[in-house]
Amino acid sequence: MEKKSLLRGNRIILRELQEDDWLGIHDYASQEQASRFQPWGPNTEEETKIFVQEALDEAKKNPRNRFFFVIQGIQNNELLGAVELNISDFHNQAGDIGYIINPKNWGEGFATEAAQLVLRYGFEVLKLHRIYATCSPENAGSARVLEKVGMTKEGTMRDHLKMKDGWRDSSLYSILENEI
Ligand SMILES: CC(C)(COP(=O)(O)OP(=O)(O)OC[C@H]1O[C@@H](n2cnc3c(N)ncnc32)[C@H](O)[C@@H]1OP(=O)(O)O)[C@@H](O)C(=O)NCCC(=O)NCCS
Repeated sequence: MEKKSLLRGNRIILRELQEDDWLGIHDYASQEQASRFQPWGPNTEEETKIFVQEALDEAKKNPRNRFFFVIQGIQNNELLGAVELNISDFHNQAGDIGYIINPKNWGEGFATEAAQLVLRYGFEVLKLHRIYATCSPENAGSARVLEKVGMTKEGTMRDHLKMKDGWRDSSLYSILENEI
């Protein structure tokens, strides 16, 4: 059940990654605005293909700790973005989430719906206790998504990530299994 999952929301499904998804992923991963707050990108085609292959390889691991889902529109089957959940600590039942939406679909509520679905998967199927997320303090859209799905801001992680132009702080958010 955990190996080949499909999660259904109102307007989107989250489905397991396939090799030929690389083009839909590259459509956003090659854009500067999509990777602005990320240590990677904008991607070349080769970089996106390597990224997809790594996620496919990690899906085969046992125990599996990385759950990468493509966000697909129910209405038109379009690849809207991706969301992932990583089990960071099996003993302490802890995980983290991240998401990205194609800029042409920003502001339509898709990140919020995808984050809600993946949190439910983490708590109900993977039996996690705590799920956290980080974002740039300047990434107002991502911070809003995390607040909307009920996560609490715990503080600021100083010099958390090495970006293309130097160190970056991250805001740290979390949610516990009894808070969903
Ligand atoms: C952050 C991101 C995922 C948001 O996706 P989205 O599908 O547009 O988000 P939603 O439509 O679900 O919006 C959720 C809320 O955030 C708000 N929001 C979205 N973008 C915003 C922005 N740039 N500035 C301020 N608020 C913003 C929306 O208005 C909405 O709040 P509201 O319901 O109170 O109006 C998207 O901009 C993205 O993919 N960015 C690049 C990748 C990234 O930064 N990922 C997060 C890494 S931590």
